[in-house]
Amino acid sequence: MNELKLQPYPKALSGEIEVPGDKSISHRAVIMGALANGKTHVSHFLDGEDCMRTVQAFRSMGVTIEKQESTLIIEGRGIGALEEPKEPIYFGNSGTTARLMLGLLSGLPFFTTVYGDPYLSNRPMDRVVNPLKQMGAVIDGRGDGSYVPLAIRGTKLEGIHYTLPVKSAQVKSAVLLAGLYAEGETKVSEHTATRNHTENMLKAFHANITIDGMHTTITDKEPLRATDVYVPGDISSAAFFLVAAAIVPDSSVRLKNVGLNQTRTGIIDVLKAMGAMIEINNQDSISGESLGDLTVTYTALHGTTIEGDIIPRLIDEIPVIALLATQADGTTIIRNAEELRVKETDRIAAVVDVLSSLGANMEATEDGIIIYGKTALKGGKVSAYNDHRIAMMAVIASLVAQKEVILDDVSSIAVSYPEFFKDLQNTMN
Ligand code: S3P
Repeated sequence: MNELKLQPYPKALSGEIEVPGDKSISHRAVIMGALANGKTHVSHFLDGEDCMRTVQAFRSMGVTIEKQESTLIIEGRGIGALEEPKEPIYFGNSGTTARLMLGLLSGLPFFTTVYGDPYLSNRPMDRVVNPLKQMGAVIDGRGDGSYVPLAIRGTKLEGIHYTLPVKSAQVKSAVLLAGLYAEGETKVSEHTATRNHTENMLKAFHANITIDGMHTTITDKEPLRATDVYVPGDISSAAFFLVAAAIVPDSSVRLKNVGLNQTRTGIIDVLKAMGAMIEINNQDSISGESLGDLTVTYTALHGTTIEGDIIPRLIDEIPVIALLATQADGTTIIRNAEELRVKETDRIAAVVDVLSSLGANMEATEDGIIIYGKTALKGGKVSAYNDHRIAMMAVIASLVAQKEVILDDVSSIAVSYPEFFKDLQNTMN
């Protein structure tokens, strides 16, 4: 246990930081680089535990991947060069590694077994196993193939047309990756747009992919071609500082080179809707992904309603948005966010427990949270639920708490943001 005691912080936050590379994009860069023919350099790669699970998975299949500071060098030799791993592959806490790799492993001509930590072992895998089985995949495991550990007997797959029953980019990505090597055409349709990094990365690696509104088709069987990738800063990591600057009086913090892909920027829309002062500068686009600098300056906030199509655009930011809402006047309603129940932990229950214990006034609903602001946060001892985003949210909450906040264990933060405390320190001058 890595307990942490956080004292109230009576000053403003200021300065400029560059948050680490985007987690979703880092995973995808490793996958495409490992499947491609040729050498891929991934710069500003997120060296977090989750992305390293994806790296290790490919290393165990014979791919040479080197790390030089924050650049990853992947020696892709095409899909044909991947080897049957000798040991079961460990996915740790990483849902993205699990879901995306299942799509890929289903079509590889060998046998693999995969497993994860106790938290991943509780997360539903049937959402990817079901469409993959429709494509011909042979997957078995706990709960009739619904949970890891799973065993995958790679086989020839057939393309399908699959309409996503859940708002999940991981499911979309698993089917597209399986489709990359399936016979015929694979088409994925969605009712609500989810993050599109897989599509962007497939395009960057010269895959034959067509996007028509909410429908994506992949027909490629040619090897992907290596390309260099720059990973923009993770808006889901930036979110902790966007909220910190918005709630700690007199603060102003600038975040450089943050990914601004439209499928991820829901938190910016919410901050604006709540009256926050947020500025976007130096917008650019690299490797098919947009990015820019974000500056948030403290000002009074008011509640809002967050529902419908915006939910997938901010799903990972909801814990810290709930904290934001405790510091806004009036009521904030979050609904249609039932996916939070099956994240690293049940994030609806975790957020309500942590923030209520600290003195916030909020209630859980089946698919969201209602927050009655503005409330002073007192302090106390809380659990971070071994969930990186709950842990970081609680650390940011401590900045506005009146008394000491004690967190049971913050080691989970290394999953997505190993340098979190260093960056936080840099805003506390
Ligand atoms: C991710 C998609 C989201 C998100 C997760 C990363 C991805 O999950 O919550 O942190 O990289 O595709 P779902 O697609 O399952 O909603």
